[in-house]
Amino acid sequence: MKQKKAKKILIIHGPNLNLLGKREVSIYGKVNLGEINLKLKELAKTLKLSLTIVQSNHEGEIVDLIGKSPKKYNAILINPAAYTHTSIAIRDAIAAIDIPVIEVHLSNIYSREDFRHTSLISAVAKGQICGFGIESYSLGLKACLSLIP
Ligand code: DQA
Repeated sequence: MKQKKAKKILIIHGPNLNLLGKREVSIYGKVNLGEINLKLKELAKTLKLSLTIVQSNHEGEIVDLIGKSPKKYNAILINPAAYTHTSIAIRDAIAAIDIPVIEVHLSNIYSREDFRHTSLISAVAKGQICGFGIESYSLGLKACLSLIP
């Protein structure tokens, strides 16, 4: 029997997420990005997904990654971090592509400062998951899978 090709997901971690584990621990917890990525890779194995994981502190780099993604991936899981609230460029990059994009956040952005209540990304994402700590990513990965035809 012909084996099904693994679905390919690009995970983008935005600015300052490289500092997880040390950064505002009372909000984001003690788990670092390496541990989050390990958990995601384990989950991807059980879901038979192929993962590419990138962290970037640079808006233009994230825009480039998104723009090139339809040729290489079936869906994107993104935590745009602070760019969630500021980046029209990332929003436009997502609006320009035709693969599903899921937005995730560790914290509940709606229970924090007012400036975090607006996401410029959510209107162009298929959906948003926030407030579940690292579980937001696991839920997001499953959501990606459910959206890939
Ligand atoms: C975040 C929430 C953003 O408001 C913040 O700028 C981040 C992390 C989260 O995962 O909870 O850097 O995206």
